[in-house]
Amino acid sequence: MTRLPRPRLVGAALLAFGLGLGTAAAAGLAPATSPDQAAAEGLHIFNHDQFGGVRTCSSCHVNGGTTAGHLPGGAKIPSLEGVAAQFPKYNGHAHRVVTLEQQLVHCIRGGLQGKPPGASSPQMTDLIAYLTKLSKGAKMGQQFK
Ligand code: HEC
Repeated sequence: MTRLPRPRLVGAALLAFGLGLGTAAAAGLAPATSPDQAAAEGLHIFNHDQFGGVRTCSSCHVNGGTTAGHLPGGAKIPSLEGVAAQFPKYNGHAHRVVTLEQQLVHCIRGGLQGKPPGASSPQMTDLIAYLTKLSKGAKMGQQFK
């Protein structure tokens, strides 16, 4: 009977983990260590990352999302200032209450035609940090009666 290959498996897992971290760090995607750093990286992602799709957030949400606009078809693109304080909120298209993160997943799938980053990925954290910074001082929870 041969020995269980457990040590090799652990080694492979550690190697994969190390490679994963190395790739993230090389792409500038290592976890941020302060909210301001996360927000700064979030703005960079907002302006540059296509998530494998065809647009960036700033293709639609101009000036870092601080200016409202319209899609070519006429639909309103809201300013993102203060909006993080309004989630979770009811979304009339989805017919359900959505969190800010779910809204981002929607925009990345639909708007960017990309693949959303994982819920606990540095990219999602950084985008949420950036949007939350755009809501600094906004009154929280105005959507509740
Ligand atoms: C193709 C254009 C387009 C792209 C690209 C896009 N969005 Fe949006 N976004 C919209 C439109 C239109 C709305 C409003 C309607 C809706 O919710 O779909 C919206 C809504 C939002 C909202 C909610 C605003 C509110 O008042 O409730 C947030 C937050 C948001 N987008 C963030 C982002 C982020 C972050 C990205 C990039 C990852 C992004 N969007 C990419 C068009 C876009």
